[in-house]
Amino acid sequence: MLRQEVEDGQASLANPQFRADVLAGLDRRPRAIPARWFYDRRGSELFEKITDLPEYYPTRSETAVLGAIGGELRERIGPGRAVVEFGSGSSTKTPLVLEAIEPSAYVPIDISGDFLRESSKALSTRFPNLLVLPFEADFTRPLALPRTIAAAPKLGFFPGSTIGNLIPHAAVDLLRAMRSSLGEGAMLLIGMDRIKSADVLVPAYDDAQGVTAAFNLNLLERINRELDGDIPVDAFRHRAIWNDDRARIEMHLEATRDVDFTVDGRKFSICAGETIHTENSHKYGPRDARILLRAGGWTPIQMWMDADEKFAVYLAEAQAERPAP
Ligand code: TRP
Repeated sequence: MLRQEVEDGQASLANPQFRADVLAGLDRRPRAIPARWFYDRRGSELFEKITDLPEYYPTRSETAVLGAIGGELRERIGPGRAVVEFGSGSSTKTPLVLEAIEPSAYVPIDISGDFLRESSKALSTRFPNLLVLPFEADFTRPLALPRTIAAAPKLGFFPGSTIGNLIPHAAVDLLRAMRSSLGEGAMLLIGMDRIKSADVLVPAYDDAQGVTAAFNLNLLERINRELDGDIPVDAFRHRAIWNDDRARIEMHLEATRDVDFTVDGRKFSICAGETIHTENSHKYGPRDARILLRAGGWTPIQMWMDADEKFAVYLAEAQAERPAP
């Protein structure tokens, strides 16, 4: 492996974790590649486009909620907190929170470094007196927050229903990890998309313009670019499926014919109709959401919804553990 990396300039540029996840994911049955690898530069840009699509309601609904509750947030959360945003992307919803609560610092965490630096710069221009400390990291792994904010009380901000992209046991692990990195007394403002008709859910993940399809297929292009692959991207199509039993939208890449290809020197064959599972988006009803938060060590304080009740935003608190009755 080491020797190959030295000989092969192409491969040595690749993220070793990306390579390991892709190779293992293509070997596994059902085949599945972790969704975090969507977000290279192009993937992050396509994702921003998704959030503007007419069918993709979550961003609009959540933005409407956050825009409407500034006064209540100020009252509940108070000034002086360090806001830590997990998976900040372009930080478009952040100003709504920052404006409401007068924070002492803002720590955006994102896996896409370029994107993070650009959006942090834009945010610093808009809030010149705010201490902005961008942090390039995969927030699904344990992280040590900057020492500068050690003493400040924290507000975790986790919008976009990104929690729904994790299977429930990983979602609980993440909530618990957030609790331990933010500390007792921290608060968490978290968005969760609600369960609703498949007629609304499926188009949100399979839009008429094909932007979500391009986003999903970009994963194959990224594999070709970064892992020396020769996957015929035109032999795959985007699928979005509502899995009612698990209350989630699944995104898959389905082979439209039998295909053979190589990635990083390894050969793979996929039969027509077989899929690579690339994303889950779990939806949570109100009780589901509350039990998920509690399982993760967070006490729900308040919930708000948009006028159509499509999307919910929860405020929760990391209260001291009480002995079980
Ligand atoms: N977490 C959001 C959701 O599940 C955003 C998102 C993540 C998304 N991956 C996506 C949206 C893929 C569309 C397609 O809705």
